[in-house]
Amino acid sequence: MLLGLFLLFNCLIQAQCFPVKDFYVSTSEIRNFLRDRLLPSCLSYSDVDLVHRTFPFKVDFNSSSSTKTSAKTDGYGNIISMNIINEEYLPLSISCFTRLHSLHVEGTRFPTFYFHVPMFVRHLSSSLTDLVIKNTSFKELLDTIGKFRHLETLVMTSADLHSVPDSIGELSSLKTLQLSDNSLSAIPSTIIKTSCLTTFDINNNKKLQSIQTLNGHPNLMTLFADNCSIEDIPMDLPQLVNLYMRNNKIHDVSKIYTLGNGTDERKNFDFRKNSIRYLTPFIRRVKNLCYLNLDYNKLDVLPMDIYEVKTLKHLWIRKNNFENETINEMKMNMVNTTIWA
Ligand SMILES: *[C@@H]1O[C@H](CO)[C@@H](O)[C@H](O)[C@H]1NC(C)=O
Ligand SMILES: *[C@@H]1O[C@H](CO)[C@@H](O)[C@H](O)[C@H]1NC(C)=O
Ligand SMILES: *[C@@H]1O[C@H](CO)[C@@H](O)[C@H](O)[C@H]1NC(C)=O
Ligand SMILES: *[C@@H]1O[C@H](CO)[C@@H](O)[C@H](O)[C@H]1NC(C)=O
Ligand SMILES: *[C@@H]1O[C@H](CO)[C@@H](O)[C@H](O)[C@H]1NC(C)=O
Ligand SMILES: *[C@@H]1O[C@H](CO)[C@@H](O)[C@H](O)[C@H]1NC(C)=O
Repeated sequence: MLLGLFLLFNCLIQAQCFPVKDFYVSTSEIRNFLRDRLLPSCLSYSDVDLVHRTFPFKVDFNSSSSTKTSAKTDGYGNIISMNIINEEYLPLSISCFTRLHSLHVEGTRFPTFYFHVPMFVRHLSSSLTDLVIKNTSFKELLDTIGKFRHLETLVMTSADLHSVPDSIGELSSLKTLQLSDNSLSAIPSTIIKTSCLTTFDINNNKKLQSIQTLNGHPNLMTLFADNCSIEDIPMDLPQLVNLYMRNNKIHDVSKIYTLGNGTDERKNFDFRKNSIRYLTPFIRRVKNLCYLNLDYNKLDVLPMDIYEVKTLKHLWIRKNNFENETINEMKMNMVNTTIWA
């Protein structure tokens, strides 16, 4: 076993390409490594040849459908995008593709330790702009992810992730981050440094109780945070336009006026299925509030200030504790708002 690991690292350091199934190698696999080591380095083959020689499955070069294993090349035969869908594992020879912009791996084993392999990190970090990892047990994102400075989209969903490293903050080009359907319990405070980030999806992380590390993010426009266990809404997000925090544990939204106050865009705030008992009078200070969903909360009255929110087009207040009279009064005072009660 130790010998196997030694050989493995030896091969990796010498920047050789070969398929590796996992860290836990059997003797026959060590033999295969030795054989594979005789493979010349990446440079001796075109990208397409490497796929034929080292990939344990067929890749369709004539379609770039994201629902089947396929790849696209540029005019020079370099592979620029690759989708690997429901295959056994991602071969390490992926590290040879120096022009790969987009890598989408779904339902396929992606050994976490690849992010320790110098060639993998060096080559892919200089070209990848889109990395999508879905429906696989990835578990831990290693801190070398921070070297992938060109990443604009990072998607790791249903990947059994338990934590995100601080180095995520070094992804200075990142615009979209999707970490939904994982087991995250915290978002590192370095997230604030991803200053290009406009869309963040953290839906369905049941253990997540707080997203306060996002407070003060300068450019976040859309935040999906449904089905977590979050107790407080974030604060001081001047560009926030769409906020989805359905099915959480929110009691208090008194800081709502600090959201989206740097933009005149129409706001859409959704707090369906929480534990809100009281809506803050500061609701009138939310700039251009257009849609507000408070269905399935514990409200029995709204502050009169809601009548001052002239921009409100739709208000949802179903399944609360309102009396019919209160609702009728609201309807009379808010003739330009559609109230779903
Ligand atoms: C792609 O399709 C063309 C024609 O349909 C065919 O000649 C070619 O061999 C195919 N290339 C690959 C890599 O399958
Ligand atoms: C998830 O991946 C497995 C293979 O690992 C596959 O059989 C299954 O269909 C995938 N599920 C979805 C929802 O794509
Ligand atoms: C949240 O959970 C509900 C109920 O389980 C589910 O119907 C809904 O699709 C989930 N939302 C998201 C964004 O996955
Ligand atoms: C937005 O709110 C913050 C306080 O949360 C305040 O410091 C800032 O001046 C406000 N900006 C605008 C444009 O109103
Ligand atoms: C309140 O309104 C609902 C539907 O409009 C009606 O079914 C219900 O009986 C009303 N309750 C009272 C106490 O008037
Ligand atoms: C409803 O909208 C009309 C047309 O924009 C406006 O004149 C009127 O003042 C509004 N009513 C209220 C109660 O805001």
